[in-house]
Amino acid sequence: MCGIVGYTGNANAAEILVNGLKNLEYRGYDSAGIAVLNENKLNSYKSKGSLDMLEDKLANNGKIVAGTGIGHTRWATHGVPSDFNSHPHSDCNGKITIVHNGIIENYQVLKKELLTKGHKFDSSTDSEVVVHLLEDLYEGDMVQALIEVDKLIEGSYAIVAISEDEPETIYGLKKDSPLVAGIGREENYLASDIPALLSKTKDFYIFEDDEIAKVNREKIEFYGLNGKLLEKDVFEADWDADMVDKKGYDHFMLKEINEQPDVARRIMADRFTETDIDLGDIEEILAGDYKKIMITACGTAYHSGVIGRFLIEEFADIPVDVEVASELRYKKNFIDKNTLMVVVSQSGETADTLAALRLAKKQGAKVVALTNVIGSSVDREADSSFQLMAGPEISVASTKAYVAMVLVFYLLALKLGNLNNNISKARLKELIAGLKRLPYRIQETISEFDEISKEIAESIKDYKSVFFIGRNIDYALALEGALKLKEISYIHAEAHPAGELKHGSLALIEDGVPVFAITTRENVAMKTLSNIEEVMARGGQVNLITAKNIEYDKIEVDNKLILPEMDNIWSSVLAAIPLQLISYYTALELERNIDKPRNLAKSVTVE
Ligand code: AGP
Repeated sequence: MCGIVGYTGNANAAEILVNGLKNLEYRGYDSAGIAVLNENKLNSYKSKGSLDMLEDKLANNGKIVAGTGIGHTRWATHGVPSDFNSHPHSDCNGKITIVHNGIIENYQVLKKELLTKGHKFDSSTDSEVVVHLLEDLYEGDMVQALIEVDKLIEGSYAIVAISEDEPETIYGLKKDSPLVAGIGREENYLASDIPALLSKTKDFYIFEDDEIAKVNREKIEFYGLNGKLLEKDVFEADWDADMVDKKGYDHFMLKEINEQPDVARRIMADRFTETDIDLGDIEEILAGDYKKIMITACGTAYHSGVIGRFLIEEFADIPVDVEVASELRYKKNFIDKNTLMVVVSQSGETADTLAALRLAKKQGAKVVALTNVIGSSVDREADSSFQLMAGPEISVASTKAYVAMVLVFYLLALKLGNLNNNISKARLKELIAGLKRLPYRIQETISEFDEISKEIAESIKDYKSVFFIGRNIDYALALEGALKLKEISYIHAEAHPAGELKHGSLALIEDGVPVFAITTRENVAMKTLSNIEEVMARGGQVNLITAKNIEYDKIEVDNKLILPEMDNIWSSVLAAIPLQLISYYTALELERNIDKPRNLAKSVTVE
């Protein structure tokens, strides 16, 4: 979603801001802008569209010399993408300017009051109320003014402000939307996300809610809502700047698909004895006595949770509910102190997932988080966190983080099964040996299915609808296959439990309509086979993704993708890969904006 960068130092602020924002492009945006303090005067430059368009605008304004400034990429919520709705937004006198991520929920009431007081608004955004409030409340002390603003606004926000009164200082405030301060040498930064600043620094302060930072070249000070100075620990990021590079691949998505064998290796390194799995800090919580487990997440992370449910129920014999995080707090949830809550989020900032986490904690549950971003809100607020170790995922379409989540669910399920004495030592030994082979099989799957994925992509690209079917864990894979295809190719894609097709959607199957059938589990494969026959009888084009030792001798499908041989238990990890590749190549055929699909954002920080 929106991105923020702020800078103060001796370098060219405009350049630093634009480059920092480029590192956040993956989050998705539809307009961009910066404001810099040039000879103590605030100048703003904004543009609908891409950062390239903003750069053109900047170039047309000659050399911009400034050492302090703030920048923003906007993903429209209130008001269409346009120059005037782009951030930064300035007060009536053009002396204070701000950028904002999140949503100011009570902006209409505030705007009405501000209009009555004579303030003039230039945009239709919710964000603009913040700068007019600052204008009203500022009496020479910006920290105090921000404290007052924090008391008045409701919703989620990361706000960065500068003022002509203090030409070498930037201010930050946040609640429920991430903000970090980057520590430099005689220069300092603010940003919504660590990757924006990785080429500049690895040392950060992470904002907690309702904290205010005053940042100038020499120092960064944090204040609480009582106006008192706060002590903060420095957080050292372990991601490298070159991890956010395409490294010769055409797209981050393809690079990230190819990183999956290494991700699997990292997750599993030093975890196993012959018959046990070491899950580190979360083990203390896993060992508790729970009546049930609930998994919650959004989108692809939710799909990993659906797989997680099957695995935990199968290996540990514990009932598991899996809930879409955006729905959880609007239903009766039965969460209490006897519930183990597993919250999954690549970014660790998804607003709905965070809200579900907070609800679970409030109701007494113990919360374990699976997240890819150390220091993210989900990471910090959970009782204990397990790092997915996928490295920065830049492509909006999640691939390597998804596979990491699925793998961690395997580890979790086996650990719980072991704690429950539900898996024999001999079986666990076999399973651990399988896990160790998995990175090689993932590599093999990527290499083996690259060509066929291109061919399938070519054959499905002109269809309006594509269907994905599977039963049990294969249905969870079907859900992810459909999401991946639709989000980057914009082809309508639906997933169904294979047996459900005939209860409605079969009416849409006619000559050539592509159907992906996934069969990695013997116990349901033959049942899915009957559903494949139903599709073929209506002329559907069937692409079968199947485990090696499930034999379909009698059936002639259009494409049969046979996964590398290993215990079928692991095929759910492998089957995800051709689904990712087919989506990628279909989007490539259709010349879509693969890493930044329209209307979507990498980190969904609004509800
Ligand atoms: C995945 O391809 C999507 N971009 C999306 O569904 C994503 O998984 C979802 O928004 C959840 O994000 P999170 O893992 O950062 O919480």
